[in-house]
Amino acid sequence: MTGEGSAHPTRIPSSTANGLTQRTTQGASIHHITPKQRAVEDALVARVLASFDDTPDPRLRQLMQAIVKHLHAFIREVRLTEQEWNTAIAFLADAGHITDDKRQEFILLSDVLGASMQTIAVSHEVYENATEATVFGPFFFDGAPYIALGGDIAAGATGEPCWVEGTVADTEGNPIRGARIDVWEADADGYYDVQYPDGRVAGRGYLFTDEQGAYRFWCLTPVPYPVPHDGPVGSLLAAAHRSPMRAAHLHAMVTADNLRTLVTHIFVAGDDFVDRDTVFGVKDSLIKDFARQPAGTPTPDGRDLGDRSWSRVRFDIVLAPAEA
Ligand code: BEZ
Ligand code: FE
Repeated sequence: MTGEGSAHPTRIPSSTANGLTQRTTQGASIHHITPKQRAVEDALVARVLASFDDTPDPRLRQLMQAIVKHLHAFIREVRLTEQEWNTAIAFLADAGHITDDKRQEFILLSDVLGASMQTIAVSHEVYENATEATVFGPFFFDGAPYIALGGDIAAGATGEPCWVEGTVADTEGNPIRGARIDVWEADADGYYDVQYPDGRVAGRGYLFTDEQGAYRFWCLTPVPYPVPHDGPVGSLLAAAHRSPMRAAHLHAMVTADNLRTLVTHIFVAGDDFVDRDTVFGVKDSLIKDFARQPAGTPTPDGRDLGDRSWSRVRFDIVLAPAEA
């Protein structure tokens, strides 16, 4: 995927008055395409598109014809070599080999290409004052423990304690009681519990809002961490001189009857990676002040943290209507 000639090749319009020669750039060189060659390529695209004409499911037909159109346009624009195509196929095969029930290299690929965030952008259109969505990531699983309001999701995971509080409301400001909030996060070393060798569950849980739509819990002050980068996606990032780091964040998924499920993060204002998150997940509205509290500062619920510093953040959540 990173072979020669991949430095932003672009199709440029022909400069010939009769339009007989199409030019594309391949790396630094200009590639001339004769009308005969162009006809061969056009005819192939037309044949492949037509092969999907009888697809009974209209959505599948639309998706397949659009992907064929864009894929062929890409191949033609960059004048893809067979070697580069084989490299791309080997890359995808490697991604398949490293994927198992704990590791999903294809989601990671989609994430670092911005495809996950673009799919979220078109699927969760901005709606009035509703809280914005961001990437789901590969580290959620069903089966996290229930946490009472004010409880601690850390369950022994290492890190600085952090108090999170807020409300869940609809876009008209009505508090939502009984909204379910799933939260999950990495520990101070940047690892999720699913990456621990001993299988213990930590740094995750779910809770429900109270009668006033309010919630509160203890967790760990989020820290930046690298996405798994020991596989093909990591090699791609390295080849592109891109960092594998995610901006520090806490994941949340909020569900309530008749309201649109929200998958989002709270990001930490001032974090080093907040403007260069490797999966493009940061939205300004999700960056919050995690106010640092020196050791000895009284805690909201009277919890004794001894000589540990802690932080606190407020995150008020607004859910769009389900049909939005
Ligand atoms: C995460 O935040 O958990 C995550 C998201 C995308 C890729 C890898 C990790
Ligand atoms: Fe994460």
